[in-house]
Amino acid sequence: MISYRDNAGFDKDAAVVCLTVEQVKASTFPKQILGDIKKLVLAGQFEGNKGEVFPIIIGKKIILLLGLGKEKDLTMTALRVYLRRAFLSGNLKKAKTIEVLLSKDNAEVACAAVEAATIGVYAWKKYITPKKDDKTVQKKDYVFVTTFGKACVLAVKIAESVNFARDLVNDNADVVTAEYLEKQVRTLVRGEKNISLEILDRAKLKAKKLGLLLAVNQGSSKEPRVVVVKYTGAGKSVPYTALVGKGLTYDTGGLNLKPSGSMETMREDMSGAAAVWATLKAVLALKPKKNLIFAAGMVENAIDANSYKPGDVIVGYSGKSVEIGNTDAEGRLVLADVLAYVIKNYKPARVIDIATLTGACVVALGHDYAGILGNNDDLIKALLKSAQQTDDRAWQLPMYSEYKDALKSKIADIKNISNVRGSAGTICGAEFLKAFVGDTAWAHIDIAGTAFVDGDSHWYYGHGATGYGVRLLTDYIVNN
Ligand code: BES
Ligand code: MN
Ligand code: ZN
Repeated sequence: MISYRDNAGFDKDAAVVCLTVEQVKASTFPKQILGDIKKLVLAGQFEGNKGEVFPIIIGKKIILLLGLGKEKDLTMTALRVYLRRAFLSGNLKKAKTIEVLLSKDNAEVACAAVEAATIGVYAWKKYITPKKDDKTVQKKDYVFVTTFGKACVLAVKIAESVNFARDLVNDNADVVTAEYLEKQVRTLVRGEKNISLEILDRAKLKAKKLGLLLAVNQGSSKEPRVVVVKYTGAGKSVPYTALVGKGLTYDTGGLNLKPSGSMETMREDMSGAAAVWATLKAVLALKPKKNLIFAAGMVENAIDANSYKPGDVIVGYSGKSVEIGNTDAEGRLVLADVLAYVIKNYKPARVIDIATLTGACVVALGHDYAGILGNNDDLIKALLKSAQQTDDRAWQLPMYSEYKDALKSKIADIKNISNVRGSAGTICGAEFLKAFVGDTAWAHIDIAGTAFVDGDSHWYYGHGATGYGVRLLTDYIVNN
């Protein structure tokens, strides 16, 4: 649980006291522990350097001094990283309630700090057997000393949605199937007003001819789904913004099978869908006066005697025929059908898709920035602003007609891979999608690198799913 108070009490099991180098030099310490810290500083034990952690014990309470470095160098990302490290430090293992004193009282700092206590401390432990003698308190209460509690309440709701997306991505692909995701969405919208729900199951997908999406699922024993949620928070005449997620519950690559080393994390391939459903969760908590469509195509790219095949030509919802150059370029096929379906049937003014689309995006931008591309600069600009604001970072990549030429096919209207191998993979992926959005304002967010991190302490995330996109999309919705 997270709560707020105006003044420090030093009455909890533990306190984390954030201090900049300047504050340490000027001895601006909380009065309750002024003498204790001064002694340490005089003894040269604590200087307030970046991420420096120093525990002291006063009575029965543990006080963790946390250095933030020089005030002018402190970014909100760094603050999240340092606070996460403090919250997870061995010194606070047994603390149930932790008071947090920030280096200054403003909304930006307070919101970044509560994210450290929500997004930062998240860990996926469903399949880890707890050690018998481990006395670590798993669910801690944090009390933040700030007068900006109101702004933080929203940040916490959004952060909880981020962690919801992470749970969906982290669990096994055979647990988080398309049917499971449909159930999650049904649970989210149950009892909510201004919502309508459309579910396309196998029979409906066939009847409506979402042939590309069905081809991708052809080798799977699981049921495919397209789920569309319409949220009408503003007047009926206000145009809708659509969010469309790639929901590959597992991507083996299909007959163009992925090699070992490239497949192990492919349960992450539904991270776009997870971001869309988690953004819906945030929207239902914040209730913005906006009109929105949430949609995802949820299927599995399995390998089987029934799998679709390299060289196939398949016609999807738009009527365009697609030559399958590679069955591992499946995300764009699923998205092509869902984008075309949503645009035709819901007529949104703008559409944003979010997808773990290309390994090339990981090569280009690593795990720190998502790629943004599209056909509308105003939409991209607004998304980049939200990316900056929320720390869900993004970088624009270019689209030019030269890349479109690379998708030409001799036997179909378009091909799902580029004829120029090894070049501009992320841009070619976006070029393919562009052929299915027509004149609708559209932006594509490639999160292949940012959705999942394989590491112990990357930024302020632990290992696994990051929930990337939930903060970005929620911010975009609220501010546009
Ligand atoms: N799901 C993958 C992309 C991916 C790679 C996501 C790494 C997360 C981490 C996607 O379906 C894929 O396999 N793309 C191919 C496209 C290629 C065949 C044109 C790729 O990137 O190699
Ligand atoms: Mn693939
Ligand atoms: Zn994929």
